[in-house]
Amino acid sequence: VNHLLGIKYLKEQDIQLIFETADQFKEVINRPIKKVPSLRDITIANLFFENSTRTKLSFELAEKRLSADVINFSASQSSVKKGETLIDTVNNILSMKVDMVVMRHPNPGAGVFLSKNVNASIVNAGDGAHEHPTQALLDSYSIREKLGDVAGKNVVIVGDILHSRVALSNIFALKLQGANVKVCGPKTLLPKYIESLGVEVETNLRNALEWCDVANMLRVQNERMDISYFPSTREYAQQYGVTKTLLDSLNKEIVIMHPGPINRGVEITSDVADSKQSIILNQVENGVAVRMAVIYLLASKIKK
Ligand code: CP
Repeated sequence: VNHLLGIKYLKEQDIQLIFETADQFKEVINRPIKKVPSLRDITIANLFFENSTRTKLSFELAEKRLSADVINFSASQSSVKKGETLIDTVNNILSMKVDMVVMRHPNPGAGVFLSKNVNASIVNAGDGAHEHPTQALLDSYSIREKLGDVAGKNVVIVGDILHSRVALSNIFALKLQGANVKVCGPKTLLPKYIESLGVEVETNLRNALEWCDVANMLRVQNERMDISYFPSTREYAQQYGVTKTLLDSLNKEIVIMHPGPINRGVEITSDVADSKQSIILNQVENGVAVRMAVIYLLASKIKK
């Protein structure tokens, strides 16, 4: 397939190939000359219909380090505001001889829809509360780097699972690689179907942290919430926020992850985010190498 639409379409060996390719690119981007000429004949459009800092800049940097030509599109400054449809927008961009589209969109399934309606390779950079495949790949890559392997590790995903594309993609990726996965959060922020994905539910944060090797702390997505959601931010922080005191009271050293952006003092306190147990900035660093690998592997199919 010429797309990366979600982790649910991947096999375990696809993930391993991406990681092995990312290992090589990580070496490249740590050299004084951080670029390779691999994609000099490829043009990529980054289409962002929703805000982003990490994903947008990470994709752009990954593409530039592969020597692709890059154009960036932000919906808020475009003719989408005049009523142009998604397909018209993308077909107009593709007529400028673009080979690949990286898209973030607020609607779940937007990437799949686009892949069926336009003639280009599509990479999903996050579609509503559905999937964020490159985030899950860089998360697993970072666990593998820190702990040597993902298989057999106990990983808990904490917080707002209901609104989280990061949670769904991580669950698919972690289970494919043989990790044990739990989710932990208030019942109001857990989707009803969650156990059908083969994960266990733990509503007590301390129990979850005592069980895990890795805790991936999700952002509370206030922008996707109805005002009536329980708990309030203050109650959430009290029951599901990780503090340094809580972390230090565990009888082991767990790894702390967060996809960003962080609500400091809600999901984790600053002293946890900035502690030596946190690999949050390693996740961001690894995102460039992982996205280089994804784009390189997809582009090699375009070239054939
Ligand atoms: N992790 C992540 O997707 O962050 P951005 O929304 O800033 O891209």
